[in-house]
Amino acid sequence: MCPSHGFEYDGTGRVRVIPANGRVSPVPQNFQVKAYHVAEAADFIWLWYGDDEPRYQPKFFEDIDNSFEYSEFWESWNVHYSRAIENQLDPMHLPFVHYNTIGRGNRTVVDEPIVKWVDDTMFYFYVFNRVDDGTPAKRADQIQGDARTQVYLEFKFPNITDNMRVTAAFAPVDEENTVLYIRYYVRLTKIRLLDKLIAIAGIPFNKVVLHQDRAVVLTQVPKKSELKMNENLIPGDSPILEYRKKRAILKGESGGSNG
Ligand SMILES: [Fe+2]
Repeated sequence: MCPSHGFEYDGTGRVRVIPANGRVSPVPQNFQVKAYHVAEAADFIWLWYGDDEPRYQPKFFEDIDNSFEYSEFWESWNVHYSRAIENQLDPMHLPFVHYNTIGRGNRTVVDEPIVKWVDDTMFYFYVFNRVDDGTPAKRADQIQGDARTQVYLEFKFPNITDNMRVTAAFAPVDEENTVLYIRYYVRLTKIRLLDKLIAIAGIPFNKVVLHQDRAVVLTQVPKKSELKMNENLIPGDSPILEYRKKRAILKGESGGSNG
């Protein structure tokens, strides 16, 4: 229903009721908007804004279920979604942008992150940030040990456990704007209300961290990233490169173009 004039639509985009004309009045054929495929999952509404049938079903993190409580907030950034996403895939900015929060400890050397594709559309990357001990950053194939013991993605919070998760959703608005939607999932006590309160109490800290990112990402040019663009990358950028490659494939291109 339109919040402005109360027009009521059906799933095909046809207007069914125009309150100002009286609920019984027939609605002319031309009162029709474009309809998009939507689905509801994990407390999100997922919208497929392509013209064709959805090629992917909504997919959320399998290990976040109803045993968690969550808090949430969102804000609009004047950035293309690609830059907002790549910022979260970048382990190198932690000791600089987040020097006093999640990047404490001056771990400036970034051994090449190990990227593990879970399936066609999802990957984890494992971060090996360390204090500079005079040795150069290692490549991924030189790293010993089990990568799974390491932190991954943006889960760099101190004391992070399986029972606390921070998720970020990036909703493209247009070529220059993105809505960032943060959820903080908590499953720490047996009391759901208490978990909820802990989750809510975590919002200010998550906001501080996110605003450290925002200050940097808003300044990035060009606004949109591409697989083939004039940027020099280093091994620490490997998760970003993986993202750009996959995005180019999903868009059905070999690099560069709209979207
Ligand atoms: Fe960050």
